[in-house]
Amino acid sequence: MRVLVGGGTGFIGRALTQLLRSHGHEVTPVSRRPGKNQITWDELSRLGLPPCEGAVNLAGENVLNPLRRWNESFRQEVVASRVETTKVLAKAIAEAEHPPRTWVLVTGVGYYPPSHSAEYTEESPGGDFDFFSRLVSHWEAAAKIPGDATRQVVVRSGVVLGRDGGAIAQMLWPFRCGLGGPIASGCQPFPWIHVADLAGIVAHVLEQEGVGGILNGVAPSAVNTTNGDFARAMGSVLRRPAVLPLPGFVVSAIFGAERSVMLLEGQRVVPKRTLQSNYQFAFPDLHSALQDILASP
Ligand SMILES: NC(=O)c1ccc[n+]([C@@H]2O[C@H](COP(=O)([O-])OP(=O)(O)OC[C@H]3O[C@@H](n4cnc5c(N)ncnc54)[C@H](OP(=O)(O)O)[C@@H]3O)[C@@H](O)[C@H]2O)c1
Repeated sequence: MRVLVGGGTGFIGRALTQLLRSHGHEVTPVSRRPGKNQITWDELSRLGLPPCEGAVNLAGENVLNPLRRWNESFRQEVVASRVETTKVLAKAIAEAEHPPRTWVLVTGVGYYPPSHSAEYTEESPGGDFDFFSRLVSHWEAAAKIPGDATRQVVVRSGVVLGRDGGAIAQMLWPFRCGLGGPIASGCQPFPWIHVADLAGIVAHVLEQEGVGGILNGVAPSAVNTTNGDFARAMGSVLRRPAVLPLPGFVVSAIFGAERSVMLLEGQRVVPKRTLQSNYQFAFPDLHSALQDILASP
């Protein structure tokens, strides 16, 4: 299979590229920058879709960059890097003479309202209560293409855990120094997934005919994981104390009130349709996932 991957140069994109290549597929990243064996968004808009059997979009400006202030211009970058790239890919697919068999968009579980008690499956309502939920709605709407020549799939991902990027790359240093701990009370749900499983779900969807619609991209045990559980598991795997809480007001001061919701609140998400699609999770529980990620120095 030839697979075009928007944002294929990023944290999840690199894991997906490696996995797809190991399955014998060819991967072409779509990037802002020109480079060997990749195409740019501008080329995709001007020249249309290159021949491919699968397309994926993983492009998006890093929302939790602590060095960027949460102001209107950054908000717009966060939205445009997701919605506009998705529109470009969807348009190229819709106009292709030979459209791909499958089109996969990765969005987020921020679609579902934060709650300590509610459990969300793919059928649960959401998408219209705050900035991030509305972003997910616009992002997913931008991916829609008419007709059924191409199977359309959305994977709503939780916090992606892996060594080379995402949340762990940002938190590893304090945890290694014994300065890690829960965020605020630590009681907020922590919907997580190992990067190998997120890449695995996307590859599964590309390879299995008949899997379509929304799939939740979280580990099966994530529905019962809190931020405090995550901090304790990090401490246990790294053999360091992990008891120093990061106060909520510090998080709000660094990230701004609207954005800090991503760290101070969370959703209990069930990957119901993902499991029904017969995807076998490599890392269903947090301890084994963290052991895999943090095992070597
Ligand atoms: N990591 C997570 O925990 C997580 C959780 C839920 C959902 N997601 C979603 O999954 C996708 C991939 O996440 P990731 O962690 O792999 O992201 P990442 O490594 O931060 O970035 C992915 C790629 O997006 C492209 N990009 C960055 N800023 C951009 C901009 N302003 N305009 C256009 N393209 C831009 C970059 O590609 P080039 O530099 O090559 O252009 C980058 O390699 C994102 O859409 C993210 O929202 C991630």
